[in-house]
Amino acid sequence: MKRRRGLFIALEGIDGSGTTTQTRALAAALAARGARCHLTCEPSRGPIGRMIREQLSASDPIDAATLALLFAADRLDHLRREVHPAVDAGAIVISDRYVLSSLVYQSLDCEPSWVATLNQRAAAPDLCVLLDLPVELAVARVRARLTAGDAPEERYDAPDLQRRLAAAYREHAARDPRITIIDGARPPESVTADLLARITPLIDELAVAFG
Ligand code: TMP
Repeated sequence: MKRRRGLFIALEGIDGSGTTTQTRALAAALAARGARCHLTCEPSRGPIGRMIREQLSASDPIDAATLALLFAADRLDHLRREVHPAVDAGAIVISDRYVLSSLVYQSLDCEPSWVATLNQRAAAPDLCVLLDLPVELAVARVRARLTAGDAPEERYDAPDLQRRLAAAYREHAARDPRITIIDGARPPESVTADLLARITPLIDELAVAFG
């Protein structure tokens, strides 16, 4: 992303990979070090994001192409409404999912080049991290959340889909050097420490650039 006041960081991974836990832990750790953080997510909390959330657990869901359009529309709205203003104000914006989620999830059912075209106008983040872990571990975490009633059953929860999604994430990471892979199977504190180690040099660069 060309805006140079703050930073935009996206955390990615299959369901149960820990993106939500880690965006929160990272924001807390950075805030404790005096950084100004803005925690956000996709689907966003805006009008299109709310519509998507409804659809993800709907019994009669919309088709895959319509959903891909909604994710791309939500992203542009999210950038305009929330991400760009926060970055311009100097914050470190940490998003629980971003473009890579669409390239991976929506390409299960839609032509990947079409999904990429839909997302062309969404600027690249300063850092995109893939939390990688064995699919069985992620599936077990999602199952535990469902059993505890902490989350509704969603469109992509099936283990065979998660396996395909994990493979797709790894393929993207293998051919795109801008994606940083972090081992998400370790205890959460170790994952957060690893994330902090990757992000601190970027924050130091900003301090040099803007004083
Ligand atoms: P969450 O579980 O991280 O809150 O995300 C909701 C679901 O939406 C999750 O299964 C991933 C999926 N998703 C997409 O399919 N495409 C996207 O672009 C995004 C942001 C999420």
